[in-house]
Amino acid sequence: MSHGGPIHPMSTPGLAPTPPIQLTEAELKLLQVLVYQECGMHFDARRTHFLQDRLHRRLKECQMDSFYSYYRLLISEGGRQELAQLLENLTVNETSFFRNKAQLDLFQKHLLDEVIRRKQETGDFSLRFWSAGCSTGQEPYTLAMLVADSLAYHQMRTSSAIQLPVPKPLIPHPWKVEIMASDINYTVLRTGQEGMYTENQMLSVDYTYRLRYFDKLGERYAVKKAVKELVHFDFHNLKTEYLPQRNDFIFCRNVMMYFDQAEQKRLVTKFAKCLAPSGYLFVGHAESLLGLTEQYSMVYRNSGTAYQLVAEVE
Ligand SMILES: C[S@@+](CC[C@H](N)C(=O)[O-])C[C@H]1O[C@@H](n2cnc3c(N)ncnc32)[C@H](O)[C@@H]1O
Repeated sequence: MSHGGPIHPMSTPGLAPTPPIQLTEAELKLLQVLVYQECGMHFDARRTHFLQDRLHRRLKECQMDSFYSYYRLLISEGGRQELAQLLENLTVNETSFFRNKAQLDLFQKHLLDEVIRRKQETGDFSLRFWSAGCSTGQEPYTLAMLVADSLAYHQMRTSSAIQLPVPKPLIPHPWKVEIMASDINYTVLRTGQEGMYTENQMLSVDYTYRLRYFDKLGERYAVKKAVKELVHFDFHNLKTEYLPQRNDFIFCRNVMMYFDQAEQKRLVTKFAKCLAPSGYLFVGHAESLLGLTEQYSMVYRNSGTAYQLVAEVE
């Protein structure tokens, strides 16, 4: 794509050609900066085409005749809804259950186990997780299933009382589990809240998990109520200042890759404030904290990676 002149939308074959609405370099820049300021998403040369395509779609949807008027709408008081709509159109929501198995093994078998033991010793029975950029919910529900299994096993291993064959609660007494799942996209949040998944979306879910944590409703799989109750979905823009505090684990995977380095730095520094002492941050397999901050130390095991918050030196 040339960066010199106006940019034209593609014409639809078979339809009478409509005069193309031009997106000038200056308009593109204005819109690019606005999107960056609003949510941190950065469109470099490789992704400009995607941005242009989505802008053309929104312009058509709003029946507007220039990108400058569209920009004026977005920055106006009455344009908040359209701005949210545009941002939704710009997010990439690809996700899956049990994504990055090696990393989840590190999480469940080593780090979660260590945190559970540590908390048990100090009599603190609460565990807080945050799936930041949770998309349609597969990530927070995966965490819920892994945590429920770990706590049940921990209870079995450490209890000397005779276990009666009665139905057990998902989270054994006295533990309390909270999983906050946030995203900037309302549509994916609604899907997460609904907790219904197709056979295709369930491909990475082993039958033992399907049996224990899902009900089959017609063609789809519904997350069981007790699992859903552990996860709280909420709109949250990672660009804003208020962030949920005292998390033992933060998962922010495959989100930072859409931000530029300056925004990535700001985000991981903010995450350090949102973690409990010695808490862990997980990022996507194509992401890293290298060169961004020195507040974490890397933990690596069998191809799985996480970052542990380092205690501040007084
Ligand atoms: C590719 S998905 C990753 C989903 C999941 N974390 C995973 O790894 O499978 C990225 C998600 O980040 C969300 N996102 C992008 N920018 C965001 C922001 N500024 N604040 C909150 N969520 C954001 C998108 O809406 C999208 O659902």
